[in-house]
Amino acid sequence: MSEAMIVSQKVHKYYEGGVRVHALRGVDLSIDRGEMVAIMGPSGCGKTTLLNCLSGLENISSGRVLIGGKDLNALSDNRRTELRALNMGFVFQFYNLLPVLTSLENVELPLLLAGKAKGAKAKAKKALETVGLGDRCHHRPPELSGGERQRVTIARAVVNEPDIIWADEPTGDLDTDNSERIMDLLCKLKEKNGHTIVLVTHDQMVARRAERMIYMENGLIQREQRRGDTR
Ligand SMILES: Nc1ncnc2c1ncn2[C@@H]1O[C@H](COP(=O)(O)OP(=O)(O)OP(=O)(O)O)[C@@H](O)[C@H]1O
Ligand SMILES: [Mg+2]
Repeated sequence: MSEAMIVSQKVHKYYEGGVRVHALRGVDLSIDRGEMVAIMGPSGCGKTTLLNCLSGLENISSGRVLIGGKDLNALSDNRRTELRALNMGFVFQFYNLLPVLTSLENVELPLLLAGKAKGAKAKAKKALETVGLGDRCHHRPPELSGGERQRVTIARAVVNEPDIIWADEPTGDLDTDNSERIMDLLCKLKEKNGHTIVLVTHDQMVARRAERMIYMENGLIQREQRRGDTR
């Protein structure tokens, strides 16, 4: 039987400011444990907002988000931060590596933040080896290629063995070969560790690797397509 890992019920999100933006207009969604879902849609349709609201990085205006059955809104800020630190990994467009830290230190960081300092260096080293960068531990991000940097980001996202990986345009800056490598890597890690993966992408080739594609438009899910379903 499948088990819902992420549930969104009638989620609305308004951004208040000079202009009030209704960024999410009642999103209903359920993602199973171990599923990989790709979210697509035009720029400004609310993809990043949805990811941020589902992960609890941003507060929703109304509706409900459940993570592993837990209502995010019922948790205190601290508990939500803890849930993210312990159960989630992020590969974000603008959630960059710290340029002054080495690859190893960047990957170690989530473990330290989660209070798991013991053995953190060895785990970080192993995660870098998993992404094929065992020999780049002491390079800093500016000394790495774009593809290598994104692999360090993935090592950082998985070092804590999270239930969920959120990826916002993980291949956005990469050429086709590097995009394929990143997707091979994410799929391999998912097979091995059973991560639930939610990724936002503009790239059909990338989206096709997911089990389900979700198309958003104007703050709403317009349609879904399962892999192998050609309707
Ligand atoms: N912090 C914010 N304050 C005000 N408005 C925002 C904020 N973040 C996003 N928006 C607005 O909300 C809408 C959805 O933005 P979002 O970043 O989710 O789009 P997106 O689908 O991820 O687009 P892209 O493909 O360009 O990354 C946009 O109209 C945007 O201008
Ligand atoms: Mg975005």
